[in-house]
Amino acid sequence: MSTQNTRKAITLSTLKRIREKGERFACLTAYDACFAGLLDDAGVEVILVGDSLGMVLQGHDNTLPVTMDDMVYHVECVKRGNRTAFLMADMPFMSYSSEKETLENAAALMRAGAEMVKLEGGAWLASSTRLLAERGIPVCVHMGLTPQSINRIGGYLVQGRDDRQAKNMLDEARLLQEAGANILLLECVPADLGRRITEALEIPVIGIGAGPDTTGQVLVLHDLLGISPISPKFVKNFLAETGSIPEAIRAYVDAVRTGQFPAPEHCFN
Ligand code: KIV
Repeated sequence: MSTQNTRKAITLSTLKRIREKGERFACLTAYDACFAGLLDDAGVEVILVGDSLGMVLQGHDNTLPVTMDDMVYHVECVKRGNRTAFLMADMPFMSYSSEKETLENAAALMRAGAEMVKLEGGAWLASSTRLLAERGIPVCVHMGLTPQSINRIGGYLVQGRDDRQAKNMLDEARLLQEAGANILLLECVPADLGRRITEALEIPVIGIGAGPDTTGQVLVLHDLLGISPISPKFVKNFLAETGSIPEAIRAYVDAVRTGQFPAPEHCFN
């Protein structure tokens, strides 16, 4: 059934309620109006205009070349196609390295139509998170594998596997919640750590390769459709078993809501 015209706008309160009820929500990336409309119709609760666009749209090897102008352009496109999903946008590499840049660039994304900005990092983001939260800008902090730090990390590697790293991540997640983060996004961590962080926080946690127990799940749209050059372990090609793009997106939403995705083969130990 199409949710077009019938669903009320998804807000942070909706996502909080889903978390409180122990239910799950689906997040997917989109970069243009047409796909944003399809995601919205399929019932996706959160659309992420991710800087993954640098890889899947622009053909770069990583997300570092993506600029604020790129992000603003794609947020505007997605905004036009979306009706009810909650719209989150990535702050690209080095766009939040000073207070002034953080405020100006977050404001530009919000003016373009974003309802939340996402920043990658850990404890060092506490002051930026507080700065934005105090000015009414909802913040998602992306932890675990943070692609903008790929050169420092040394590859797309699972994070938080040893006890010390896992404890640090848990402590940093608590600190960021305290600083005012409204959502935490966890990428490529062991499923057990994904569960522990989700249980420890009051805010919703969205996972990608973080196991089945986070409140939300996210995938890059092109990965879900099986058209990305690489397919990490945490990805499932939903188009292969459905045969149409709208059906693939609906199948993903259903699988997330019913807890069938991610399955054990998509998770890290
Ligand atoms: O840029 C992006 O699409 C992301 C997801 C991988 C979570 O940050």
